Amino acid sequence: MYLTKEEEEILEGEAGEGFQRSMEILVTLGDIYKSERLVDITSAQISSVAYTNSGETGIRFLEWLVNTGAYFKVLTTLNPHSIEHDRWKEVGFPNDFSLRQLANTEAYRKLGAVGTFTCTPFQVGNNPRFGEHIAWAESSALSYANTVIGARTNRESALSALAAGLIGKTPLYGFHLDENRKGRVLVKVETRLREHADYSALGWAVGEKVMSKVPIFIGIPKNVDNYELNTLCAGLAVSGAVAMAHIPGITPEAPTIDVALGGEKPEETITIDDEELKLVYEDRSTKGIGSKVDLVLLGCPHYGYKQLKKASELLKGKKVHKDVRLWIATSTPISSAVKRVGWLDIIEEAGGEIMCSYCAPVSRAAPFGFKTMATNSSKATFYGVGAMGLKDTIFGTTEECINAAISGKWGE
Ligand code: F3S
Repeated sequence: MYLTKEEEEILEGEAGEGFQRSMEILVTLGDIYKSERLVDITSAQISSVAYTNSGETGIRFLEWLVNTGAYFKVLTTLNPHSIEHDRWKEVGFPNDFSLRQLANTEAYRKLGAVGTFTCTPFQVGNNPRFGEHIAWAESSALSYANTVIGARTNRESALSALAAGLIGKTPLYGFHLDENRKGRVLVKVETRLREHADYSALGWAVGEKVMSKVPIFIGIPKNVDNYELNTLCAGLAVSGAVAMAHIPGITPEAPTIDVALGGEKPEETITIDDEELKLVYEDRSTKGIGSKVDLVLLGCPHYGYKQLKKASELLKGKKVHKDVRLWIATSTPISSAVKRVGWLDIIEEAGGEIMCSYCAPVSRAAPFGFKTMATNSSKATFYGVGAMGLKDTIFGTTEECINAAISGKWGE
């Protein structure tokens, strides 16, 4: 891979060992993917910020980077992590575990990362423009960035996004290049999409079928909102490995199906109807009507204003069942603004808990002893039984989830 004189010097260690290791990571990746050169990026989004993912090794590596004098050269924002950032004691996270999580985030702070702790960085100021090159590692966010914003990023790992943020560049390959962004599979949507849970189910259904190919959606309603698109991207990225989709008329570089296909024919056409969508709800649920739930999780990906407003409307004047915890995940900036308008108070008066900076699905739920989680996110069901260690998950609409939080049982 061609390197400029300055890049060569960094690789030889003239800027310090931390930058040198970061450049080695980028050059190795570039060589593997036969990249011609590095390209400047405008931002990085780092995953594996959760202590449950990074562990002590991750903290030691970050602290070593700090000691070498390395720092982020471009705007670098962070994924959510393993505790409620400010109220962890009140919520009941164990002391030792929480302090190690905070040691991890402190090392990122010293490197100059902005502590957004959200998987929706575009809601809180890391909002690239059409055509910008970025290096993002959160699969739901990077898929949204390629699909909805038209920025360009590969499916970065935690380590490659970290290295890219420190150097301010990434190897030019994959989704940074026009030829790899063409749509390959036509997806006809022939079902009514009621709310974001349906988009999450649609993403799951299509991701399973297309794996890493770029789908082109036909039949997405024109009034779809950004969070619905975000949950579609999250589903696509978790059941498959979709880093980008085209939605003609919404994806900036794809005004029409022909442009999305880049002058080629689709490799295949698939149809998602009512039955396909129903199957996802059934497949992602290991229990059904009448089952007791002890955790109801909303906000995967992190909720924005509209979703918190809807939650407050559904909870107004109601009470969450005494044996259930209703956790709604979002970021601190969104939560603060929602507090001012009064929606947060309504949710809390009903017994719901706003979980800022937190990602339950990648964090073990063991301290709380939850067994059955109801959620409106197909992505959360995927991690629920594995990473969270739950026994059962139930996937349904937002209204069904909130009803379960109130009654303590699914479907009652
Ligand atoms: Fe966000 Fe965690 Fe879900 S990073 S998309 S809340 S799995």
